[in-house]
Amino acid sequence: MQGCAKPRLAPHDSYDILSPIHVIRVKNRLNLAEDSCILSMFAALDRGENNRALPSGRKKPTKPMTANIPQSEITVGLGERSYVITVRPGLIDRVGSYAQSLGFHSPVPIITDDTVAELYGGRVKNSLEQAGFETAVLSFPAGEASKHLQTVSRLYDGLVALKPERKSGLIALGGGVPGDVAGFAAATYLRGIPFIQVPTTLLADVDSSVGGKVGVDHPGGKNLIGAFHQPKAVLIDTDALQTLDPRQIRAGLAEIIKHGVIADSDLFQTVRSNLDLLLKADGYVCGRIIPWNCRIKAGVVERDERESGLRAILNFGHTFGHAVESLTGYQTYLHGEAVALGMLLEAQLGQKMGLTPAPVVDGIRDILVQARYPLQKPGLSAEALLDGMLRDKKVEKGALRFVLPVEMGKVVVQAVTDLNVIRETWNNYNGLE
Ligand SMILES: NC(=O)c1ccc[n+]([C@@H]2O[C@H](COP(=O)([O-])OP(=O)(O)OC[C@H]3O[C@@H](n4cnc5c(N)ncnc54)[C@H](O)[C@@H]3O)[C@@H](O)[C@H]2O)c1
Ligand SMILES: [Zn+2]
Repeated sequence: MQGCAKPRLAPHDSYDILSPIHVIRVKNRLNLAEDSCILSMFAALDRGENNRALPSGRKKPTKPMTANIPQSEITVGLGERSYVITVRPGLIDRVGSYAQSLGFHSPVPIITDDTVAELYGGRVKNSLEQAGFETAVLSFPAGEASKHLQTVSRLYDGLVALKPERKSGLIALGGGVPGDVAGFAAATYLRGIPFIQVPTTLLADVDSSVGGKVGVDHPGGKNLIGAFHQPKAVLIDTDALQTLDPRQIRAGLAEIIKHGVIADSDLFQTVRSNLDLLLKADGYVCGRIIPWNCRIKAGVVERDERESGLRAILNFGHTFGHAVESLTGYQTYLHGEAVALGMLLEAQLGQKMGLTPAPVVDGIRDILVQARYPLQKPGLSAEALLDGMLRDKKVEKGALRFVLPVEMGKVVVQAVTDLNVIRETWNNYNGLE
């Protein structure tokens, strides 16, 4: 550690997700039986039982995009709240049959945003009607600005008019915003009705649709109002990515890179070798990378559904990232872009604290540069940034908690009480073109 005062470290929880044998070990918290269960889960993945491996540098097949793509199913094991994530092209047209097999009662409203309603609302509606369901599309303007209680309130009006019962379900169709809003409506209407997540952005495919966190923003902060409400199924139609803006694809890719850094160095390397195809949302590559990510997220959620410990590792890049996002009024950066910048800053913070080796920082920087994330330094002071971070809901007893890589695929959660080391990381960050 050079050029900075030695930081004061509070005792921290250490979460190791070891690659390549993929053992999740939560020190001082979980018993051996639980560890063994995770070990065998990842051992199954290593045997390729879920079409997991995409050999690095693999050439794109010449067959039609969907010809070689096997169906992937990942179970999120949460006892009576368990559900299956299905990844395959064409699922948008099969939502009705999944709702039927899950035993949903009519009516089954579709909640989405206006853009996705236009693109896919009609197809989902047809599919539900063909399966015999009464349905209607309830939509709101696209974007984060709609993720608030007034939208939910209008949705309740729509639901009351349609009169779904406890055994009716609803469909959350779209990116993370409709997923979070519709999920929150499902969690609260009639004290909870079932719902299916049908994500249509890369970010929603690999992150927000899995794990049951639902909610809305408040003027005082992002995601301040919410609930845990697991879906009954997640249906990921990889074809939907074909209509998504490339900037949105890159934003979703940041969460994939995050999963590689926190949990799986093989994933990180595979993403790096296939970056151009991923940025084009190539169906073949996405058909393998998306289930791989769902499996990582499901593995974490199964161990810590309500974020009492391990689940915090998913926040790598988000402490800096959220502060930058909110201080720039959610206008300048897409969430994933802010997370990309946050990952680089947090890796550099880890390096300053003597925890993150230089090659790991270099690897993270290189992939982010290669993917052309906006990594220039925003015009924000260290004090404004610290203020923003301290307002975050994840602050505990005034200490900021960071997820810091200790090797590729392995992180620790570290409480930092000496704010100078954070100031110095920010002040020394020179931005990258
Ligand atoms: N619940 C969780 O665990 C969790 C995790 C991560 C992020 N999130 C939340 O997710 C949200 C961000 O999600 P997002 O990035 O998906 O944003 P989003 O839902 O706003 O979608 C981004 C844009 O893409 C458009 N779009 C969606 N699918 C499309 C398609 N197939 N073709 C063309 N356009 C399409 C949307 O209309 C929107 O304009 C944030 O609110 C964040 O807090 C939640
Ligand atoms: Zn995120």
